[in-house]
Amino acid sequence: MDLIKVFPSHEALAQAVAEDIAACAQDAIARRGRFAIALSGGSTPAPLFDALASPPFRDRIAWDRVYVFWCDERSVPPDHPDSNYGQARARLLDRVPIPPAQIHRMQGELDPHAAADAYDRLLHGFFGAAAPGEPQPRFDYVHLGIGADGHTASLFPGTEALAAADPDRWVVANFVPKLHTWRITLTAAAINAGRRVVFMVEGAGKAHTLAAVVQGPPRPDDLPAQRIRPVAGRLVWMVDEAAAARLALD
Ligand code: 6PG
Repeated sequence: MDLIKVFPSHEALAQAVAEDIAACAQDAIARRGRFAIALSGGSTPAPLFDALASPPFRDRIAWDRVYVFWCDERSVPPDHPDSNYGQARARLLDRVPIPPAQIHRMQGELDPHAAADAYDRLLHGFFGAAAPGEPQPRFDYVHLGIGADGHTASLFPGTEALAAADPDRWVVANFVPKLHTWRITLTAAAINAGRRVVFMVEGAGKAHTLAAVVQGPPRPDDLPAQRIRPVAGRLVWMVDEAAAARLALD
């Protein structure tokens, strides 16, 4: 079974995920000299970003060794309120000493195919050739949420990105009919190459979906979050008690 950690409140969850990121960053920097993290959007990470931008986490992380990427982006410019980059920038990146050249956003203001192509090239340039036996792109940490419909990143139920089969294609444009919009997203295979992949889930509104994704029968087209299975990494679910309400826990 996956590792599931339950916390009593959204605040406690945010502190615990911040601690998890800080510890992973320290370890990655000690071993490999850098920490590459892919962030997500939505409302769940807001208190996490605030925690990372505040003591003690702000001062524990060697921000000059941190490289920030995104799991997905909406089709909006970076200063739009819906921009995943914009949220992370306002709540976290503008408040910590990270070199701007180490922040790599998806360009939501461009044609989504062009933006996906550009980000795919950027990731190939950053990660380079795979070491023998190592999957790529080898993010040290992939931070994910889930939607009540079972999506993660911008891998929505029944959408074309779920069929992305080229292992060398890590980023795709994905049309989401129910939102009448394009998204830019990492593929499931790209996420599954990460060393540590952490879902952060909070609130009673996610309880049913969380139980279906983690403990229900396989329905990977309806519940794309079930496609997340790191091939050589660790999958961790960090959730609050409200979200965990329908899980069968030991
Ligand atoms: C996005 C995300 C998305 C998010 C979930 C959960 O751009 O919307 O990256 O996958 O993680 O939709 O969002 P909430 O935290 O708002 O429920």
